[in-house]
Amino acid sequence: MGAVRRVLLLDDARELPPDTPVLRADDLGVVRGEAVFETLRVLDGRPCLLAEHLTRFAHSAARLGIDLPAGFDELAHKAAIGAEDAGLRLTMTKGGVGFAVLFDVAPETVAGRGGISVVTLPLGIASDLRAQQPWLLGGVKSTSYAVNMAALRHARALGADDAIWVSTDGYVLEAPTSTVIALVDGQLVTPPVDTGILPGTTLLACSRLLPITAAPLSVSDLARATEIALLSSVRGVAPVLSLDGRPLGASPVLTALATRFETTLPTWM
Ligand SMILES: Cc1ncc(COP(=O)(O)O)c(C=O)c1O
Repeated sequence: MGAVRRVLLLDDARELPPDTPVLRADDLGVVRGEAVFETLRVLDGRPCLLAEHLTRFAHSAARLGIDLPAGFDELAHKAAIGAEDAGLRLTMTKGGVGFAVLFDVAPETVAGRGGISVVTLPLGIASDLRAQQPWLLGGVKSTSYAVNMAALRHARALGADDAIWVSTDGYVLEAPTSTVIALVDGQLVTPPVDTGILPGTTLLACSRLLPITAAPLSVSDLARATEIALLSSVRGVAPVLSLDGRPLGASPVLTALATRFETTLPTWM
């Protein structure tokens, strides 16, 4: 996340100076990671794919037992006013505080649109565990992201830009803040959501541009994929240039998808 430009409270859609504290010290969002959030792209003063994000936000809140008051739709639109290209984070804590933060797109995020290097990392769970044990909160976007952030730091310590998590039974799951797609035997494949990964809004949008099949993607499929990309709201479609040190080459299909995504995104408000 780049520099904060604007902070608005859900309560009365009031804009606060960006350095104003908004949470109490006993908010469970802070002390237990019990808050939900969404991160969106803002283009031409409007939040992209807002309805899709708000649907997932409501689902995450319900799974965490967090009351989600009305008003985030209007709050997102108000926060986005006048921003040409930015990120927007909506957060609702279990302590009952809702807020929106508009932020600059970080330079490394912009650079990632040109391609990234990725390493695979074990997540230590089987691909069917979270479907069998829903209390593990598969598919929920909560602020309990310490493991996600640690995975990114570890990837960077290994000299890569990002990571792809794999399961103990040898399947691809997701990246710490992105969805994985891979071109295998001429078909674009993405891991199914019953593995407990987050259902990506960028994936949903890209599926309107190209057929993408949700199907188990094994680690060996990934190793022989001719093209791979990581999809996420603010970075968009980031083609993978190398996986575990293996160069992937030009990625014509996914680079074309990235271009189409960027040009079509402003029409998906
Ligand atoms: C764990 C995880 N998977 C996938 C995604 C991609 O979701 P979206 O495309 O909606 O940004 C994210 C987004 O932050 C994420 O945190």
